[in-house]
Amino acid sequence: MGLVGATLARALDHGHDAILRDLAVVLQSPEPSWGSLSASLGLLLVAVDSTGQVVGALLAHPPTSFLLNLAGQGLEQKNVFLGHIAIAKIKGLAVAENSRHSGIGSALLRRCREVYWQCGYELLYGQFHSDRGLLPSFYRASDFEVLSENDGVDLWVVFGQRVVLTNESGERVFYRWRRHSG
Ligand SMILES: CC(C)(COP(=O)(O)OP(=O)(O)OC[C@H]1O[C@@H](n2cnc3c(N)ncnc32)[C@H](O)[C@@H]1OP(=O)(O)O)[C@@H](O)C(=O)NCCC(=O)NCCS
Repeated sequence: MGLVGATLARALDHGHDAILRDLAVVLQSPEPSWGSLSASLGLLLVAVDSTGQVVGALLAHPPTSFLLNLAGQGLEQKNVFLGHIAIAKIKGLAVAENSRHSGIGSALLRRCREVYWQCGYELLYGQFHSDRGLLPSFYRASDFEVLSENDGVDLWVVFGQRVVLTNESGERVFYRWRRHSG
């Protein structure tokens, strides 16, 4: 189960139950391996040009550190699991400089959404440093909400309790709910 994207790939082929099966395996372990679970629910996308050269990449996975941090503050274990099957964080996205402004970045974002929505996820988010003045327009062009530095996302819909997803210092959160999307 530790392979990057292994569980996600099974879920694409066999539906959401594949994720629940792998979660059940983790649950049975006396020491749940969150890192391994997170990797198996991760997504690495690459874009290649006509010569096979990699010109863009995106990495996403469930926000394990954030969820474990919340667990340390009292979030129930069942909600830590829920977070792993409902929320994915875009950890990295980059397009080669000479391939930018031709739609590759937004295509990687779109495919990322398609994969996680198909696997039953509810929320995609990420963050970038506030001094990256051009990124809000990039994410908004893909229908993500972009928050100001002091703002967060209320995760009530996921957990049924008030949990706010906030940014790290100096960062801004961008996010998109599945229910707003096609
Ligand atoms: C941000 C990045 C991934 C965008 O990739 P891209 O392939 O150039 O983006 P797209 O061509 O899909 O752009 C889609 C839309 O976003 C907006 N956009 C993209 N780059 C923009 C820029 N530099 N300034 C303003 N708007 C921009 C535009 O609306 C664009 O649509 P348009 O070209 O029809 O006007 C790329 O610039 C990059 O790799 N930057 C460095 C790494 C980085 O900042 N990653 C994000 C970390 S959170």
